[in-house]
Amino acid sequence: MCGIVGYVGSKDASSIVLEGLKKLEYRGYDSAGIATVNGDLAIRRAEGKLVNLENRLREAPLDGHLAIGHTRWATHGAPIERNAHPHADEARVIAVVQNGIVENFMALRAQLQQEGHTFVSDTDTEVITHLIDKYLAQGDGLVEACRRAFRQLHGAHAIAVVSKQEPDKIVTVRLGNAGGVIVGLGQDENYLASDIPAILDHTQQVVYLEDKEMAVITAGQVNFYRLDGQPLRKETHQITWDPISAVKGQYRHFMQKEIYEQPQSIQSTIRGRVDFTSGQVHLEHLSLTPAEAKAIERIVIVACGTSAYAGQVGKFMLEKLAQVHVSVDYASEFRYRDPLLDDKTVVLAITQSGETADTLASMEEGQRKGAKLWSIVNAHGSMAHRISDGVILMQAGPEIGVASTKAFTATLTDLFLLGMYLGQQRGVLGAEESFELATALAHLPELAGETLVEGYNDYQTLAKLYHHCEHFLFLGRGLNYPIALEGALKLKEISYIHAEGYPAGEMKHGPIALIDDNMPVVCIATQDHVYDKMISQIEQVRARKGIVIALINEGDNEVAAKADHVLKIPTAHPLLTPVLSVIPLQLLAYHTAIWRGADVDQPRNLAKSVTVE
Ligand code: G6P
Repeated sequence: MCGIVGYVGSKDASSIVLEGLKKLEYRGYDSAGIATVNGDLAIRRAEGKLVNLENRLREAPLDGHLAIGHTRWATHGAPIERNAHPHADEARVIAVVQNGIVENFMALRAQLQQEGHTFVSDTDTEVITHLIDKYLAQGDGLVEACRRAFRQLHGAHAIAVVSKQEPDKIVTVRLGNAGGVIVGLGQDENYLASDIPAILDHTQQVVYLEDKEMAVITAGQVNFYRLDGQPLRKETHQITWDPISAVKGQYRHFMQKEIYEQPQSIQSTIRGRVDFTSGQVHLEHLSLTPAEAKAIERIVIVACGTSAYAGQVGKFMLEKLAQVHVSVDYASEFRYRDPLLDDKTVVLAITQSGETADTLASMEEGQRKGAKLWSIVNAHGSMAHRISDGVILMQAGPEIGVASTKAFTATLTDLFLLGMYLGQQRGVLGAEESFELATALAHLPELAGETLVEGYNDYQTLAKLYHHCEHFLFLGRGLNYPIALEGALKLKEISYIHAEGYPAGEMKHGPIALIDDNMPVVCIATQDHVYDKMISQIEQVRARKGIVIALINEGDNEVAAKADHVLKIPTAHPLLTPVLSVIPLQLLAYHTAIWRGADVDQPRNLAKSVTVE
């Protein structure tokens, strides 16, 4: 959840680290800080967003060619400056940043206090500082002191440490799944980051640390070790992301940019994977023989948040196209319910970041019980990618806005491709049907583009009229039910309006009691096999004087006549309709949040990458 950046080389380290932190601010924005080593150890920290740290650095710059920095999502201790990272020891020799939770920090803290250490923050991280300090005082060098300290920590962590006594190096470690530790390799300079966008402007050569691996980074070289001190050879990966895709450009917000990028990211998702003359799908990192595909009895999708809603749409796609049983679980529930799994089951993890703690734990549970492990992942090289037996790499590019948008539609497209692929391998889809599905897919980027044309829907009027409402209801049936959930999630995430997604048929069993003339009800009523049922539910809302905002297929005058307002989408293949129907809901949430003056890219209390339980 927190973000870490480090640099050592010949350039101004604090500005490189600050720029890197800006790209990681989606991971947390409760406070931020930077430490440099330049003869002495110097630290600047500030409460709140990174801009406060930037202002502080303007007043009191930090010189030096080696720095580490941190942007915090508070777990232990209030989001105030005293609890901001980096944390120094009493003599201000070392500075430490951490992403994760030291689960045994109470015991360690009590022991260290007994030994005479004075704590100045409420954080769990400060115990790491004092532990390293303790071993330095016993005569260890920095690397050995860090190693001894790291071995005492329970939980999952990404940590970076600097010391003025060894001013040429940054020591870093990954322990468990607390988010990535990526070492970026440059020419006479090297980098460290929690995520790729932080260093993408400088290098595309990276090394990923795995659990219990350490790196000692100097300007001239990087040495890798296991936690027991054994030297390691690590593979270097080339990042293919374009640095431009991680900047806002002409857009006001990353979320807005990412919504408008969807035609392009859907296009990239499809590119190279479908033969449009035969309709055959090829997935580069998931190749199955027909016998292997037929042997799959069940797919269990595990995911969190928006990715879980994508999974719920995926259930419809996979069951229809591949005729395989699919269940969908929230990863946070799945991991603790002792699920029944075997080698005929595939656990399919969906994760934009590839580092969500609950999703990774569910994958481990699947692995332990002998299931096959597949994933749909946007962060190439992330933990989820690396531990999977088969993977579909999303081609959405970096997603920075905390509220997920383009990763959702890329996932839906990937799930459709997976359905087609499995359907073909299992002998469910014939040539004619494959060709029709491929043709439908080929039109999708263009249809998404139409949905986004200026003036196609009037979001401004809706946002102006209803941004003051405190409650919204989103109703959908079938494939559109998860879209109702996602529409409600988008609205609550960024505008803080209480919004509930509900299966429309269930409305009469409770939520109908909430409906009055102050309750906007977004009814997703695209023309599918439950269209008529949806019309009845719209009538029920109208009868209670609810405000009906109907999401319809373009040209549907029947529902338009019953609604107070309409949002329209072009007509697509029924299984692909959710890819389009979510777009107006993303924009409704976006414009409503703007009218409410909310911070769209960094909504309160949220983080993009949830690496703690
Ligand atoms: C957080 C983010 C959501 C995201 C969820 C799962 O809650 O704010 O946007 O959907 O985590 O993240 P993942 O990276 O696993 O898809």
